[in-house]
Amino acid sequence: MSLDPVLTRIDTDLDAALERLKDLLRIPSISTDPAYKADCERAADWLVSDLQSLGAAAEKRPTPGHPMVVGHVDGPGPHLMFYGHYDVQPVDPLELWDSDPFDPRIEDTPDGKVIRARGACDDKGQLMTFIEACRAWKAVHGALPCKMTFFLEGEEESGSPSLVPFLKENAAEFSAPDLALICDTGMFDPRTPAITTMLRGLLGEEVTITGPDKDLHSGMYGGIAMNPIRVLARIIASLHDDEGRVTVPGFYDGVSELPEEIRAQWDALGFDEAGFLGAVGLSEKAGETGRSGLEMIWARPTCETNGITGGYTGDGFKTVLPSQASAKISFRLVGGQDPHAIRTAFRDMVRAMLPADCSVTFAEHGASPASVMATDDPAFEAARRALSDEWPNPAAFVGSGGSIPIAGYFKALLGVDSMLIGFGRDDDRIHSPNEKYDLESFHRGTRSWARVLAALSKE
Ligand code: BES
Ligand code: ZN
Repeated sequence: MSLDPVLTRIDTDLDAALERLKDLLRIPSISTDPAYKADCERAADWLVSDLQSLGAAAEKRPTPGHPMVVGHVDGPGPHLMFYGHYDVQPVDPLELWDSDPFDPRIEDTPDGKVIRARGACDDKGQLMTFIEACRAWKAVHGALPCKMTFFLEGEEESGSPSLVPFLKENAAEFSAPDLALICDTGMFDPRTPAITTMLRGLLGEEVTITGPDKDLHSGMYGGIAMNPIRVLARIIASLHDDEGRVTVPGFYDGVSELPEEIRAQWDALGFDEAGFLGAVGLSEKAGETGRSGLEMIWARPTCETNGITGGYTGDGFKTVLPSQASAKISFRLVGGQDPHAIRTAFRDMVRAMLPADCSVTFAEHGASPASVMATDDPAFEAARRALSDEWPNPAAFVGSGGSIPIAGYFKALLGVDSMLIGFGRDDDRIHSPNEKYDLESFHRGTRSWARVLAALSKE
């Protein structure tokens, strides 16, 4: 089955493909907010019927949370499994959006045309690149070049709570694909496509410190009563030392230095640190002393406070000494770091810093280790060549600072390796206001998948 007519079909079908993507983007499938539960169902229904239109036996499959969308297409050649997620992040702060996040529009920008909406990149635009590539194969040749399982999740942005139980319960159905393809990552730069070979793990903790049993007047009680915000601030400030290292005991167990070969590969990529920071209004690296920028993002673990609450944060001023203060803290993990051991060490450290009269409670928000892909599989070289044929620069093997725990679960539960290919750009503002996806990412991304499917099916 030849590739060229498939690529041509993708070109001529681009406008219709964009309309389909816009339809999906109009559905506000925010997984973390229960108010959008019905919208998550609608997004799943939309995908089921879209996959059915490709000839897939597709179904919405219930979970205790949002449904999975599963589709199977029989075919020759290797059995590939495709993973993407149809849920999106919340949109707040809404006032920072220049247009309605769920009214997608095509905009001209100095860097070319973009489609702007929540999920335009992460992950609806990305997952549709793969579906559109399959649609073109089917339209031109009447079939896909290989056997395919589609597996689309609706809880990725809220930690995939139903995923492991679902895979375990349905292990037979998902047994033995040759490879999983995941489209939820970025390019190295706008001219250089990438296969992501390392992902950081993620551990989430929410800490709530309680001091007095009610909010107090800070004049009547300030000085004599302990303020839980003061305790929390001291704990957060102590999580890093002056060299930028994380101080949780045992945190670096399982973290190794970058192998020389990988360091040389990454150095050769010529990462523009100043440009990367400059694009977000910064100029100085904030990580561990003596580490390169790429190393900090791709190969070193971190601790970040993602949010703090406590006391009066509304307009004006209120002299209150609050009863409670809380913080959401996440750790990105690398190498063999054990998320559960770090959770225990972190909690012990916090408890040891509590003054008398203060108590702490913890809530957990996910724990997944880092993963490294098996790049010695010849499929990786085949895919690298296929991507290099589509883009101006040859494809690079890169790391990623983000986390996609699913890659680790596929390996652990199904024994399947994952190949992560995505077409996001650093300036796509994923998880931020005004998220966008370049039409070039969408169009060439779709063409890239058509090429990758051809290359993997030839193996
Ligand atoms: N698509 C992202 C992961 C990603 C981000 C890959 C940036 C490459 C570059 C994914 O949807 C995501 O945001 N994952 C979460 C993890 C999840 C458990 C909340 C993340 O990395 O914070
Ligand atoms: Zn995301």
